[in-house]
Amino acid sequence: MTPGVKSGFLVLVLLVLGVGANDVTKYFENNGTLVLDPKVSEPLTGITWKHKGNIVAEWIKDKVPLEYLGDFKGRSEVDLTTGVLTIRGIKKAEGGEFTVEINGRERPGTFTAVWIRNLKGVKVEVVVRPLTCSAASKNCSLECEGDFTDAGPVRFFWKKGDKGRWEEKTKNITIFNDEETKKIESFSCKASNPFGETEESKAEKNPRSISSCSPA
Ligand SMILES: *[C@@H]1O[C@H](CO)[C@@H](O)[C@H](O)[C@H]1NC(C)=O
Ligand SMILES: *[C@@H]1O[C@H](CO)[C@@H](O)[C@H](O)[C@H]1NC(C)=O
Ligand SMILES: *[C@@H]1O[C@H](CO)[C@@H](O)[C@H](O)[C@H]1NC(C)=O
Repeated sequence: MTPGVKSGFLVLVLLVLGVGANDVTKYFENNGTLVLDPKVSEPLTGITWKHKGNIVAEWIKDKVPLEYLGDFKGRSEVDLTTGVLTIRGIKKAEGGEFTVEINGRERPGTFTAVWIRNLKGVKVEVVVRPLTCSAASKNCSLECEGDFTDAGPVRFFWKKGDKGRWEEKTKNITIFNDEETKKIESFSCKASNPFGETEESKAEKNPRSISSCSPA
C-alpha cells in the first residue's frame, strides 16, 4: 500500500470504530418526555446515568438497588434490560449533557438534550424576492419566512396552487422563468420541527403567472 492509501485506510478504520460518532443530540419540548437510549449490546450488570456530572440514577446488580437522585427524582425511570433513561416533564432549563456508565465502563460520547420550541400554530408567509419579480424577470426566489428561533431542525414544505401536493423543499426556492412555472397560480408553504407544524401560509400569487400581469 502507498502511504496515501494507508492513511486513508486508518481514517476509515477510525470512522468505523465510531470515534466521535457516539455523540447524540436529543430534542425535547418544555414539559415533554426525554428518552435516552444507550443501545447496550450486552446483559446489564450495572448502570449509572449522570446529568452534568451529577448522578440521576444508579444500579449495580445484587449490590446497589436502583436508586434515583437529584432534580429528576420522581420523574425519571431506567429500564434495567435496555438501559434506557426516560425523564418526564423535563423543563426548558433542564437540558444539557447526559453521560452513562454501563457495566462499569463509561459509554464513549455524550447525549445532549436540547430544548426546542414547538412550531405548532406559528405563522409563516411566502416572501417574494426581488419585490419586482415579474413574468419577465430572470431570477426570482421565494422564502418561507417565520420565526424559527429555538426551533431546532426545521423542515419546509411547498405547495403549488390550491390543489397541489405538499412537497418537502428548502426554505428558499427559486422560481424559474419557464412555461411550466407560469401556469402555477400561487405558492404556499409550511414548516415543521420534531414537535409540531406551523400554520399554512396564505397562498402567494405567482409573480410569474401570465394571468397576474395587468393588461397593458
Ligand atoms: C406537563 O405534562 C403533563 C403530562 O403530559 C401534564 O399532565 C401537565 O398538565 C403538564 N404541565 C404543564 C404546566 O403544562
Ligand atoms: C441567477 O442569476 C445569476 C446571474 O444572472 C446566475 O449566475 C445564477 O445562476 C442565477 N440563479 C439561479 C438559481 O438561476
Ligand atoms: C433565503 O433568502 C434570504 C434572502 O435572500 C437570505 O437572507 C437567507 O439567508 C436565505 N436562507 C437560506 C436558508 O438560504
